[in-house]
Parts: sequence; C-alpha cells; structure tokens
Amino acid sequence: MEVSMTVNGEPVTRDVEPRQLLVHFLRETLDLTGTHWGCDTSNCGACVVLLDGKPVKSCTILSAMAAGHEVRTVESLEVDGKLDPVQQGFHETHALQCGFCTPGMQMTVRALLDENPNPTEHEIRVAISGGICRCTGYKNIVAATPWAAEHQEA
Ligand code: FES
Ligand code: FES
Repeated sequence: MEVSMTVNGEPVTRDVEPRQLLVHFLRETLDLTGTHWGCDTSNCGACVVLLDGKPVKSCTILSAMAAGHEVRTVESLEVDGKLDPVQQGFHETHALQCGFCTPGMQMTVRALLDENPNPTEHEIRVAISGGICRCTGYKNIVAATPWAAEHQEA
C-alpha cells in the first residue's frame, strides 16, 4: 500500500507492506537509523519519535497509521551543525553512556519541553518513565532536562 506522511519537515510517499511498523519505515525504508529498535515488547522506549508533536513508540504503530501525520525523529534535532539544547544538555550533563536509549530519551525530553518549558523533577521523571536506560541510572538524563530548559532560545 502507498503511504504519505511528513518526516522531519519533508513530505514522503512510499509503497509499504500494510503490516510494516513505523520504526521499520523510518529505519529501513527511509534509512533514518537514528531511531533505535530495542525490544519486541514495547518496553524500552528507544524507538520514541514525535507524531504531531507527541512522543510515541514507533514500534507500536503501523506506518499506515502515521499516514497524513507529521513525524519527527532524532535526526531533526541538530540543524546546520547546531545541536538542539536537549542534545547539548545531554552532552553537558553526561546523560548518555552507550547511547542506545538516547534517541528515544531525547525526543521524549524535546516533547516535554515543547509542552512544558519548565518541568519539575517529578514531571521529568514521569515523562521519561516509558523509556529504559541500562547505563546512566537516569540521574543525568533528569539533570539534562533543566539544562536544556535554561538554554532554550526564547
Ligand atoms: Fe522497544 Fe519500541 S523498540 S519500545
Ligand atoms: Fe546506555 Fe541509556 S545510555 S541504555
């Protein structure tokens, strides 16, 4: 079947299997491998992208379900060599080690700050609770968020 959607600001149309998951559409059909696929159980959150600005696990929806919608992946964060404050915040606060969870965590934090520019620690922890990080203990991911909030352009 043919699906059309906007990915990182660009309209795309592709023929796909009706059963194809959005995470595979992004990684295999569009070669946008920044979005990670980390489990078969919808638990890890490495696959989080923004669908019309809301974080979704791209392994839990079909490509066809994203048709007509706007998808934003981790590749959209850096623009012309300038890191998004969320990416810079992860760098400044050492919020990643192996980096496998990072795309999902960063998109989750991006969505949180878009909706709530000054979240409390509790709100940050609730927002990232759908993702699993096996390296950092979450502390520095939580710390990266206020760093990003303080460095957002008005
Ligand atoms: Fe693990 Fe989507 S790949 S939740
Ligand atoms: Fe390794 Fe999060 S940095 S899983």
